[in-house]
Amino acid sequence: MNPLLSVRGLGISIGPANPVDSVSFDVNASEMLGIVGESGSGKSLTLRALLQLLPPHARTTGTATWQGRDLLAMPADDIRRVRGREVAVIYQEPMTALDPVLTIGLQITESLNVHLGLRGAAARVRAVQLLDRVGIPDAKRRLDNYPHEFSGGMRQRAMIAIALAAEPKLLLADEPTTALDVTIQDQILKLLLQLKEDLHMSVILVTHDLGIVAGTCDRVAVMYAGRIMESGPVYSVFRAPAHAYTLGLMRSVPNPAHARQLLSGISGTPPEPSHMPPGCRFAPRCGFATPQCSEAPPPLRECGPAHQTACIHADRIRQSVRVTA
Ligand SMILES: Nc1ncnc2c1ncn2[C@@H]1O[C@H](COP(=O)(O)OP(=O)(O)OP(=O)(O)O)[C@@H](O)[C@H]1O
Ligand code: SF4
Ligand SMILES: [Mg+2]
Repeated sequence: MNPLLSVRGLGISIGPANPVDSVSFDVNASEMLGIVGESGSGKSLTLRALLQLLPPHARTTGTATWQGRDLLAMPADDIRRVRGREVAVIYQEPMTALDPVLTIGLQITESLNVHLGLRGAAARVRAVQLLDRVGIPDAKRRLDNYPHEFSGGMRQRAMIAIALAAEPKLLLADEPTTALDVTIQDQILKLLLQLKEDLHMSVILVTHDLGIVAGTCDRVAVMYAGRIMESGPVYSVFRAPAHAYTLGLMRSVPNPAHARQLLSGISGTPPEPSHMPPGCRFAPRCGFATPQCSEAPPPLRECGPAHQTACIHADRIRQSVRVTA
């Protein structure tokens, strides 16, 4: 079966900087793909590029095939029709995406009007259904509230309701729970999983939290300094990581069973997009690096069923996981 979305060789340049380089991934129907990586690794730019929401001076290369067409090359009118209707987005901070001077109900009915042509009572009935669907109690009354009358978790639910108005096939969720406290985070993630199942929707979930990926996603792509370092089924990547960066991220996650154990995370900081190291971009921070790592950018290669790594010393990484397990 063809993937729903197929991104090949996506590159983004903003002036002299190349914050995203040669990024390729697929999203299959009804699956949740996690894109994980440190701050600045290019996760948000990647999502924005798919809907042509980059700053005007940014340039893209590569393709993003959606329903037989390239999203990156679509004329403005066409991409506007895809946005919201076929592919919807939710962001980390719903307050910046919601309009503070319009009621939640108006913002949902506006979306229903634009994407589905629904108006008046029909739009209001559907808006109540949507708010109800995302778990907002007393939805009919809540429709007339303004965003500031909602808690952070409820605002994110309202954002999801707006995003779902046109029943998109793909939801781009950019750190949708980062601004929320842990229990609310968990509720929103459960809601996303449930909606994905019920609506047969695919989701790209961007996060810097490996635990969230492990708990929700089917597949994961690990990004570092604008490139995909490793990708594959979640169970395979977490059981047998094949890239030193993935291993570093995994060792940065506190393990409650070893609360007193020191975290052996990743030292140093990611490179600036205008000064990317040659070869493997992780090399300056990598404890496994050899001179060969800096010779040429390692391409992604198969290292297991549907599992790919861009580390030339994947065997040594896996060996070290076995030794310390
Ligand atoms: N409009 C812009 N102009 C120039 N550089 C930009 C712009 N937007 C982002 N960048 C740079 O591109 C890189 C990737 O940014 P991006 O926002 O995609 O990172 P991210 O992985 O989403 O990080 P975070 O986890 O902090 O959200 C960063 O180094 C950032 O400084
Ligand atoms: S290719 Fe080399 S530098 Fe890059 S992650 Fe693997 S071992 Fe480290
Ligand atoms: Mg981001």
